[in-house]
Amino acid sequence: MLRVTYLSRESSPFTSRALLDLLEQCRRNNPRWGVTGLLLYGNGTFLQTVEGEQEAVEALLDRIARDPRHTDFRILRREEEALRRHADWSMGFERLTDERLREIPGLRNLSLREFNPEFLSGNSGVVENLLQQHRSRHWDPLIGEIDARDRLIEDLRRALGTSEQRIEMVALLIESVIESGGGKALDAAHIALCRSTLAALRAEPTAP
Ligand SMILES: Cc1cc2nc3c(=O)[nH]c(=O)nc-3n(C[C@H](O)[C@H](O)[C@H](O)COP(=O)(O)O)c2cc1C
Repeated sequence: MLRVTYLSRESSPFTSRALLDLLEQCRRNNPRWGVTGLLLYGNGTFLQTVEGEQEAVEALLDRIARDPRHTDFRILRREEEALRRHADWSMGFERLTDERLREIPGLRNLSLREFNPEFLSGNSGVVENLLQQHRSRHWDPLIGEIDARDRLIEDLRRALGTSEQRIEMVALLIESVIESGGGKALDAAHIALCRSTLAALRAEPTAP
């Protein structure tokens, strides 16, 4: 299993609609190729981890690196490991804000302005913390101490993580509807996006 983490910058500002389109692509493609991962976005910067069979990951990264929607693509690390870290998501997503960063233990002094490729590529501890934090979202360390391998707790954690993802998708969808302009009718592409988001919300969580 290969896991690759990279940084990049948006070529021009991403609207909520553009982010939703991107997530749609991830959700459509990644399960087909057995790819899972995590995508963090903020301050015009992407931090993404992609994991799966080597061939699938290399092929995907090749496409992503050539995608004109972003630039300044730089690989931070390549890791060969037996286990996935983001098995619950075809592509976990979170949009970072200053408020969100303040909630993360150890990153309270990190401002969103520092979420940029220059700073992050020289601060691997911050990157690791950000990736780890999303992985263990809502994971109470006290519960972890009792028995991290307990199946029931694992299931609960997974369910919470999945609902978090869904909330993020709905938030993006609502924002993109607002962006589309008051009073104007929604176009066909927008309605298709609403339908596919609804389908994704109703779908069963991705099997690990
Ligand atoms: C920051 C960023 C992250 C991306 N992540 C993925 C991904 O995880 N999976 C994916 O299929 N495409 C991803 N893409 C899109 C790919 O570059 C490419 O457009 C897509 O794989 C083409 O798929 P399609 O032929 O189904 O449209 C990403 C693009 C950007 C800009």
